Amino acid sequence: MISFFMPATLWHTIKNMYKLNIVMTGGTSGFGAATSTDLINTLGTNVILGNRNSQIKGAKHIPLNLESLDNVRQFASEVVKNIRDEKIQVLICNAGMNHPDINSRTVDGFETTFAVNHLAHFYLLRLLIPYLDANAKIIMTTSGTHDPEENALSAPPKHANAIWLAYPEQDKTLDEKMAINAQRAYSSSKLCTILTVRYLAATAMADQNNWQCIAYDPGATPGTGLLQKGTLVMRLAWQVFTIPFLRKRILPKSNSIKDAGITLAHLVWGKVKVPADKVYVALRAGKITFPSPSTLAQNNMLMKDLWEQSEQLLNDAKFKLV
Ligand SMILES: NC(=O)c1ccc[n+]([C@@H]2O[C@H](COP(=O)([O-])OP(=O)(O)OC[C@H]3O[C@@H](n4cnc5c(N)ncnc54)[C@H](OP(=O)(O)O)[C@@H]3O)[C@@H](O)[C@H]2O)c1
Repeated sequence: MISFFMPATLWHTIKNMYKLNIVMTGGTSGFGAATSTDLINTLGTNVILGNRNSQIKGAKHIPLNLESLDNVRQFASEVVKNIRDEKIQVLICNAGMNHPDINSRTVDGFETTFAVNHLAHFYLLRLLIPYLDANAKIIMTTSGTHDPEENALSAPPKHANAIWLAYPEQDKTLDEKMAINAQRAYSSSKLCTILTVRYLAATAMADQNNWQCIAYDPGATPGTGLLQKGTLVMRLAWQVFTIPFLRKRILPKSNSIKDAGITLAHLVWGKVKVPADKVYVALRAGKITFPSPSTLAQNNMLMKDLWEQSEQLLNDAKFKLV
């Protein structure tokens, strides 16, 4: 309506002044679909989703398979083309998976859970850093399984050595049981997420550009596709726990898919006030909490080593960093 009374160029300028470019992985299904839908339905957003199979109405979709670093590079390059000479105001790295063993390798030769959950997102982040706007928000999804004190139904990490996680055959801490190793691959990848967010938040560029860096832990959120590669019993239980009564009784700290997704959108909109000294935000029984992450996640030496080892893995695989 307004454009009818205004010259086209002025209308275009005003529209772009309020336009938010939001780039998201893992926004096509699971609780991320609730997040992306909320973002899309908000006036003035340009929501770009990395996608494999599914699509969300109203978003721009760019193919992304995090199991291939080359594909991550192509995705980033398409994102840059899409935003043209504009910047990215919000980057959400939410995609994740949980492999039932540690035998699977990506096309680049890395253990799959680690490669998808950490390395591919680390690479994406590094490729998009030059395009992040002042005051941008960078939100990466982690998990309470990274912290032994959470007593999650999953073995906690023993370390965050990127080389050992990428090449488990070199890992001196492997367990005899494959199921434990698989759980550790997942929880360790989520430890890597917090360490990456902490490292980024501590950089001079984050400070100079006033970036807000958040590691979001949605808490146990039954009913999503996360356990789709698990045993039949696990998959059935995951669905049964979507019944609110059972979920609240058996997993009292857990969340509904809607709550986990909308809370992530609230973080984007600043409806959740994150204390300035915190990067870790955890949803527990539908309530936002700001717990300290695990002891390993607070280890600065580990944080620096992980950043450098992740760079080394990318360099060795001939993926150039900006
Ligand atoms: N559910 C929980 O209890 C829980 C708890 C803590 C943390 N998390 C984390 O929350 C995030 C979302 O998980 P969810 O529970 O909503 O699981 P989900 O339903 O399986 O959703 C995972 C999302 O990641 C995308 N994805 C997975 N592998 C990918 C790949 N190789 N390339 C590109 N995209 C890929 C999926 O894309 P498609 O749509 O193409 O499948 C989907 O959008 C994950 O990072 C997960 O680790 C979940």
